[in-house]
Amino acid sequence: MMKILVATEKPFAPVAITLIREVLENGGHELVLLEKYKTTQELHDAVADADAMIVRSDIVDAALIGVAPKLKIVVRAGAGYDNLDLNACTDHNVVAMNTPGQNSNAVAELAFGMMLFSARGGFDGKTGSELMGKSLGLHAFGNVGKCMARIAAGLDMQIFAFDPFVENNFMRDAGVIPVETVEELYSRCQYVSLHIPANDKTRNSVGEKLLSLMPQGAVLVNTARKEVINESELLTVMVKRSDMKYLSDVSPDNAELFAEKFAGRYFFTPKKMGAQTEEANINAGVAAARQIVSFLATGDETYRVNKPK
Ligand code: 3PG
Repeated sequence: MMKILVATEKPFAPVAITLIREVLENGGHELVLLEKYKTTQELHDAVADADAMIVRSDIVDAALIGVAPKLKIVVRAGAGYDNLDLNACTDHNVVAMNTPGQNSNAVAELAFGMMLFSARGGFDGKTGSELMGKSLGLHAFGNVGKCMARIAAGLDMQIFAFDPFVENNFMRDAGVIPVETVEELYSRCQYVSLHIPANDKTRNSVGEKLLSLMPQGAVLVNTARKEVINESELLTVMVKRSDMKYLSDVSPDNAELFAEKFAGRYFFTPKKMGAQTEEANINAGVAAARQIVSFLATGDETYRVNKPK
C-alpha cells in the first residue's frame, strides 16, 4: 500500500475528496489529506513519507522534493504547472504530470461571468452594454480557449484567436477566425481573454505594445496567470486610456493602485477561483488520482510534463 498525499492549500470540494479517496483505495493505496496548511513546514512534514502527491497551485519546489525521498510522482490537478519545479522533479526521478482539460469549462464560465458583470456595470442598475456582436480575441486556443469559443458562439460574439501551435483549420471548425499575429488579435478585438501558460516566453509579455492596439472600450480578461501581464505597463495604459478595463481572476500586485485610480474599470476575484467548482474539482481531482493509480500499477506516463533523467 502506497501513501498518496493530497496537499491543497485551497481545498477540493468534499464530494471530490470522497471520489478521489475511492479511486485511490480501489487502487490499493492510502489517501493522506493535508488541507489549508499555513506553513511550508507542514507541507514538508506531510510529504516526508509520501509515495505520490496531488496538488493544485501549491508550490512544489526543490526544497520540497528534497525532503520527499519516497516520492515517485506528483500530479498537478489542473492545467498550469508553473508551480512545479520540473528540473527538481527530473533530478530526483519524480514524474510530474498535469490533468489537461479537466477544469477548463469552469475557467471559461468565470471569464464570461466577469465579462457580463463588467458589461452591466457590476449590476449597478444603470445602462450597460451587451456581449452580442462584440469581438472576442482568444490569446491562445487550448482547452480553455475552446470552451470560451463554445460559450461565445452562444452569445453571438465574433470570435478570433491567435495560437501559433494550433492549426488554423482546427480553429475554423470551432467557429473561430484565426489571426496570424498577436498584434492583429489585439487590434481587432474589444475583448481579449488570456489563455497562455506562464513560462519563460510568456511572463510579462502582455504590456503596453499590445494593449495600446486594442479598440475603444477595450476589456482585458485574465483567467490565466498574473505573471503573464506586465503590470506596470498595464497601469500606464489604464492611466492613458480611460476606456480600458481589466478583469482578473486573482488580484494584481498593485491592487490598491487600481482601487485608487480606476474605480469601476477593474474587477478582481478575492482568491484564484476559475477552477473552484465542484465539477472541476471532481474532474481534475479524480483524473489526478487515476493517473497516479495507473502510473504506480503500470508505469503509464500519459500527461507527463517533465523530462526523464
Ligand atoms: C489551473 O492551472 O488549472 C488553474 O489555474 C486552476 O488552479 P487551482 O487548482 O489553484 O484552482
